[in-house]
Amino acid sequence: MKKILISGAAGFLGSHLSDRFIKEGYHVIGMDNLLTGNIQNIEHLFPLKEFEYYHHDITKFVHVPGKLDYILHFASPASPIDYLKMPIQTLKVGALGTHNMLGLAREKNARILVASTSEVYGDPLEHPQSEEYWGNVNPVGPRGVYDEAKRFLEAITMAYHTFHKVDTRIIRIFNTYGPRMRVEDGRVLPAFFSQAIRGEGLTVFGDGSQTRSFCYVDDLVEGIYRLLLSDYNKPVNVGNPDECTILQFAQEIIDLVGNPNAYIDYRPLPEDDPKVRQPDITKARNILGWEPKVPRAEGLLRTYEYFKTVVI
Ligand SMILES: NC(=O)c1ccc[n+]([C@@H]2O[C@H](COP(=O)([O-])OP(=O)(O)OC[C@H]3O[C@@H](n4cnc5c(N)ncnc54)[C@H](O)[C@@H]3O)[C@@H](O)[C@H]2O)c1
Repeated sequence: MKKILISGAAGFLGSHLSDRFIKEGYHVIGMDNLLTGNIQNIEHLFPLKEFEYYHHDITKFVHVPGKLDYILHFASPASPIDYLKMPIQTLKVGALGTHNMLGLAREKNARILVASTSEVYGDPLEHPQSEEYWGNVNPVGPRGVYDEAKRFLEAITMAYHTFHKVDTRIIRIFNTYGPRMRVEDGRVLPAFFSQAIRGEGLTVFGDGSQTRSFCYVDDLVEGIYRLLLSDYNKPVNVGNPDECTILQFAQEIIDLVGNPNAYIDYRPLPEDDPKVRQPDITKARNILGWEPKVPRAEGLLRTYEYFKTVVI
């Protein structure tokens, strides 16, 4: 049985990855310190003998007994609210945590896939963003702690690959959504759903003409699975190129939820808010034979089923 370590396993993406790898017949070690995660996301896995949970801060030395075939490194605060509140932890997990995970991969001769982000492109001057674009990041802006931590993560991962010959994969994840996102994590989708369900104003920054593209979590997990099993070492964008304006997105959620009291509440645009964000997924299509399958209407419906149960 193949053994895989997933850092950040109690988080939104880590918990879906744990489910997927259990389903594929792997032994999964989920590692987390619950900084932004929720143990309820993986509670259903605790009775399984194929699942182990290690409560551990990966910025500290990481020890795992026995063999390890794969590592998925997903631990990191990921929403702007989280990394603005925890800037030092964000930088530490991106730098020291990634260093520890790469060291473990080297020791165990395990293949490691690290979670990077579309935020490495910053406020992009190229649209859509291909992997060859180097980005437009303000290192000392409010998002700098996250963006630069992830840029460091990519740099040290490539260094371990070229210098120590560690078998590495880098995924650049674009906005992903689905069940198990935290209601109060400050990202646009949980915010819109909770505001629409409660019949409040949906907070739209600026005039809402800034664009985003949203990928349903099952599609992303499939992309991660394929990249891990591929032999490609350079960064690969995975996301859904189906772009929409924030205003359109808010309206879709208002229509889906159907609370007559919900409305659009316009607010001033925050500093460094990216104006456009759309992945160029040519590489993922060509190298992984991957593309998103779940249309936004379907993904939003599945996500609404979850938020109905958690929004009070
Ligand atoms: N969700 C997205 O749309 C998205 C987009 C781009 C990149 N990513 C990346 O994917 C990864 C997971 O994101 P998510 O949305 O699931 O976020 P999340 O906050 O739900 O999950 C992150 C998990 O990492 C854990 N963690 C944080 N610091 C840790 C530490 N020092 N030691 C051990 N565990 C620690 C948290 O407790 C949490 O369970 C992150 O690396 C994030 O940067 C996510």
